[in-house]
Amino acid sequence: MKILRTVHELRTAMAQARQDGKTIGLVPTMGALHQGHLSLVKAARADNDCVVVSVFVNPTQFNNPADLKTYPRTEAADAELLENAGVDFAFIPSVEEVYPEPDTRVFDLGPVAEVMEGAMRPGHFNGVAQIVSKLFSWTMPDRAYFGCKDFQQIAVIRRMVELEGFNIEIVACPIVREPDGLALSSRNVRLTPEGRKVAPGIYQTLQKGTEYGMTHNVGETQKYVTELIDDIPGLRTEYFTIADTRTMQPLAADMSPAGAVGCVTVHCGDVRLIDNIVFPAAGK
Ligand code: PAF
Repeated sequence: MKILRTVHELRTAMAQARQDGKTIGLVPTMGALHQGHLSLVKAARADNDCVVVSVFVNPTQFNNPADLKTYPRTEAADAELLENAGVDFAFIPSVEEVYPEPDTRVFDLGPVAEVMEGAMRPGHFNGVAQIVSKLFSWTMPDRAYFGCKDFQQIAVIRRMVELEGFNIEIVACPIVREPDGLALSSRNVRLTPEGRKVAPGIYQTLQKGTEYGMTHNVGETQKYVTELIDDIPGLRTEYFTIADTRTMQPLAADMSPAGAVGCVTVHCGDVRLIDNIVFPAAGK
């Protein structure tokens, strides 16, 4: 595996790969890699001749400076994991390399980016669009891989791809979970031992919510899930919203949740965890 530090090195390596007739799969990450990221790498490895993983903690998507400061950074371990996973290129640039001048672009991401994480983290999705569009234009991959834990992020990236006219397939990969159900996240390392014990309650409650949603409407199901999570000592729900899987728009309270996605953000101490579950379609 070759580590690339500059945009020029990345562009040159990608031009060579394309000239050699290779297909390119890109896995954008912010490092602190875990099995969730490695599942994206595995999918990219299976679909493409050349696999590039970017490792970059993107400052423009952090609306909370403390979150940016405490975001785990584990470059040496990341490089070793990627090497062992059969990655061809790891792109690990500095902030100055990616942003030689401030990125002032404002993307017209529309309603998909205005709700849930978009409402709670102003500017977050614009920052994601900034970095992912840069990575896409430098790499020009055939396919790019993202995890479904950030369900809304995938919808936002699809919108950015449409806006910018990129000819790139966005591949959404399933959430990878700990045996007790906790969704893998780079932020999990920041959980206290007590927090780690109660955090699986988030997914266990989402599962109960899908059962409940078979016989109750959206409003009732949202209340049920929120109250159950808030009853777990140490957990506090920021929002639980049942939304359309494509538009991300919240469903009306009197609708059935069948086929929709339930997205949740929960605070566990000072760690903000997100997760989601898709409700079975009607009749399933
Ligand atoms: O999902 C993430 O880790 C980040 O938002 C991404 C897509 C790598 C952009 O920085």
